[in-house]
Amino acid sequence: MMSFNISFPKTALATTLAASLALSAAQAAEVEVLHWWTSGGEARAANVLKELMEAEGYGWEDFAVAGGGGETAMTVLKSRAMSGNPPSAAQIKGPEIQEWGELGLLGELDEVAEAEGWDDLLPPTVAEIMRHDGSYVAVPVNVHRVNWLWANPEVLEAAGVEMPTTLDELFSAGEAIREAGFIPLAHGGQAWQDATVFESVLLATGGSEFYQHALVDLDPEALGSERMVEALETFKRLRELMDDDMSGRDWNIATSMVINGDAGMQLMGDWAKGEFTAAELTAGEDYLCAAAPGTQDAFTFNIDSLAVFRVEGEERDAQHALARLALEPIFQEAFNLAKGSIPARPDLDMSEFDQCAQQSLDDFQRTANEGGLVPSMAHGMAVRADVQGAIFDVVTNYFNARDMAAEEAARRMVNAAQAAL
Ligand code: BGC
Repeated sequence: MMSFNISFPKTALATTLAASLALSAAQAAEVEVLHWWTSGGEARAANVLKELMEAEGYGWEDFAVAGGGGETAMTVLKSRAMSGNPPSAAQIKGPEIQEWGELGLLGELDEVAEAEGWDDLLPPTVAEIMRHDGSYVAVPVNVHRVNWLWANPEVLEAAGVEMPTTLDELFSAGEAIREAGFIPLAHGGQAWQDATVFESVLLATGGSEFYQHALVDLDPEALGSERMVEALETFKRLRELMDDDMSGRDWNIATSMVINGDAGMQLMGDWAKGEFTAAELTAGEDYLCAAAPGTQDAFTFNIDSLAVFRVEGEERDAQHALARLALEPIFQEAFNLAKGSIPARPDLDMSEFDQCAQQSLDDFQRTANEGGLVPSMAHGMAVRADVQGAIFDVVTNYFNARDMAAEEAARRMVNAAQAAL
């Protein structure tokens, strides 16, 4: 700096300035992307897209809002959008894409979709979720399965138990694990995690048709039924397998308890696999995966997608590049290997994927053909955000209440769905 004034030749200064102007012009073509991929595995996955964008000369402004399940991210997004300054793209999923579309805030991606042949690449049900008013407004990055059980094989072995396949087996394995000195089920007491576990239990006790009636169609008869009461009671019994410090714990901390061998098992979607992968563990050896007990014939899907907001000029070019890259094989493979999910497009070579991902793909196709493929309520795929929020409240209040009867919770479930309709 000292010699700057004295000896920096004018021409060199001009060149430096010109270069930095050119640089900021290049940086102007950037995307700001809102997401909640902040855990170790999630951040590795998000980084794949950032690096691919940067390799094409675009800038990436990371708008990461921590909080599993994305509730906080959505609140932040709403306030940014209300102040007239939304990001170029945001992780928005399922029916919520329609809500944003109805507000007239989303941009469209038809040009990219046509050039890249999205109609042929994507399964029609997936493509449908990505369109508003007939136009593509979002791009899918993956398919997550929510109804999974993860386990540490050493803990199971120390307790002398196998991977449970039914809820009864889960409870008895849990007891043995506790007796062997471990926490049976790692959990984080947050509303969305409670709901994640609850929907897998309901799927096991009630089956996928009942799940569809209750949590997707919001049929008041199903919501207030004896089957709902049974699902709620079984769900609450799971508390016996959890530890006292679970309140407020993040999901990835719960996963790390399984990784470290403090806990035996976790019921969580396959973003948990992203944590095992980030810790360089191998599926089937260092950790085990299986369908959540009693849900072998069902698949609760959760498709992450990036929706785009209306933007102009260079930002639009960058946004289109983002949408194009998001469905390219190189991204779909690297992202999903890190994220724990399977690709959104079914035509890719899966040989690099581990046995849990292979099983996910097989079960996805099998349940799509035979029935049992259902959208995840807990992950914003089944109902609109207001109904989801109302159901979360009932589930979490019941789970934490000392003396709320399951019948009362079922009644509240009916009201929650009605009030929000
Ligand atoms: C998202 C996943 C994310 C998980 C935990 C889910 O709702 O779909 O992408 O990893 O929440 O934050």
